[in-house]
Amino acid sequence: MTLLLRRAQWQIQAVVAFAEAGSLLFGMFDPLEKLKEYIGLQSVSADSAYRSEMLKTRDFVAGMFREMGLGVEIVDTKGHPIVVARRTGPASWPHVVIYGHYDVQPVDPIELWETEPFVATEKDGRLYGRGAADNKGPQMAHIAAVAELLEEYPELPLRLTFVIEGEEEIGSPNLLPLLEERQEELSEADFVLLSDTLSPSAEQIAVTVGLRGIVEMEFELVGPNSDLHSGLYGGAVYNPLQAMAEVCASLHTPDNRVNVPGFYDDVTEVEDWEREELKRLGSDEEVYKASLGVEALHPHAGYTPFEAIRYLPTLEFNGMWGGYQGEGSKTIVPAKAQAKITCRLVGQMDPAKIGKLVADTIRSRVPAGIRIDFRMGHSGVPYLVVPPDRPNTPQNQPPRLAQAFRATDRAINEVFGRPPLFLREGGSIPIIADVKRVLGLDSVMIGLFLPEDNLHAPNESMVVGVLKKGTEVSKRILKEISGIY
Ligand code: BES
Ligand code: MN
Repeated sequence: MTLLLRRAQWQIQAVVAFAEAGSLLFGMFDPLEKLKEYIGLQSVSADSAYRSEMLKTRDFVAGMFREMGLGVEIVDTKGHPIVVARRTGPASWPHVVIYGHYDVQPVDPIELWETEPFVATEKDGRLYGRGAADNKGPQMAHIAAVAELLEEYPELPLRLTFVIEGEEEIGSPNLLPLLEERQEELSEADFVLLSDTLSPSAEQIAVTVGLRGIVEMEFELVGPNSDLHSGLYGGAVYNPLQAMAEVCASLHTPDNRVNVPGFYDDVTEVEDWEREELKRLGSDEEVYKASLGVEALHPHAGYTPFEAIRYLPTLEFNGMWGGYQGEGSKTIVPAKAQAKITCRLVGQMDPAKIGKLVADTIRSRVPAGIRIDFRMGHSGVPYLVVPPDRPNTPQNQPPRLAQAFRATDRAINEVFGRPPLFLREGGSIPIIADVKRVLGLDSVMIGLFLPEDNLHAPNESMVVGVLKKGTEVSKRILKEISGIY
């Protein structure tokens, strides 16, 4: 067949496929049914009680790729296994790495779920269930896109490597060693494609160009060698909960700056085009407050809340506990108090350096009579990527990365009816900066979950229409990268 004829045939097939996309009816691969099955698997990475479900999920993911005709490798790690699936080909073909995670957050508090968390339930255009949005649904957009493309164009000139890990929600402790080990194979890829970030709404999709870094820590303040009768000893010793409250309260100023000397040293300036892009988002503080059920917001001085979550670091208390928490009262001076903190990082902030700064500051503020035990947890470096045609686009930006951003811009405009906003997000996907550092690859991140999707919370869901359109967007990007129009 001549090339021209074949191209004409491809175009007809593409039109038919787009028409079919409306009903989510595809040849062999039914993305919605696959996703329902996927959500039914209880892949909670944080809780060892779910270990066998994690293995079942691994096998499900592997099976899906085998059905699509890809070569599957299961990489065992010290923790949960990683599924790597490949479509190989000549070195002249573009090579896209697609990332996702098959693990999900725990489901508690289970009593607040209106449907069974591990039974995918379709209701009012949404698919409910743990992991529907983070990350099984958005990830399925790319898997479905590849499945459909390979059915339509069995000879698609594109190399693909899927990396689907099972430990994102616990800080990806075992993915970095894999990247280092496979550095040679993976670093010659062109870019990474993923959907594990937020869009403002189903009408306004975002391409995420920045993620905050993170550093996690936990500490215990220890006072007397046992809980004490507060009548007998209260007033004589430093109460660890009082010390905890005082130390924690000292870590912010009233205008919500982090009160740790040096904390902001490596925060970098935000480009004008980024501020313009955020203005186009047109967020409304009243709507935002109402959606959160708060009467006032508390952003860092000089920033709107929408800027603060994207452009600034934070120090957040994730948990604080100690003393008597049962029914009624108990008159004690508790022996100890505990707290968990995470800092979100931006710009050039280094997790190890910030972790040490915060730890040293806390230590220096612990009063005499109280001992501190400190534990530093997982961390991730902030990530930024500049799309093409911006004042600060790197001169040496790889052409296929630039092509991917332009294709993404165009595809989102065509499929969702509005061009995307290129925005930073406040969340973290630590592996993305590692991929840049170890493999030299940048990531094209298409936001396919929404503020209403209840990530990490009860009643998580994904909009089915976003999944369908996201699939079409991914197909168009991959086609354009393959040189098929
Ligand atoms: N998908 C999220 C990250 C995210 C959330 C990006 C919102 C952009 C907007 C991811 O699964 C996640 O929750 N990551 C954790 C990382 C942590 C466990 C190291 C996070 O951000 O808290
Ligand atoms: Mn996620």
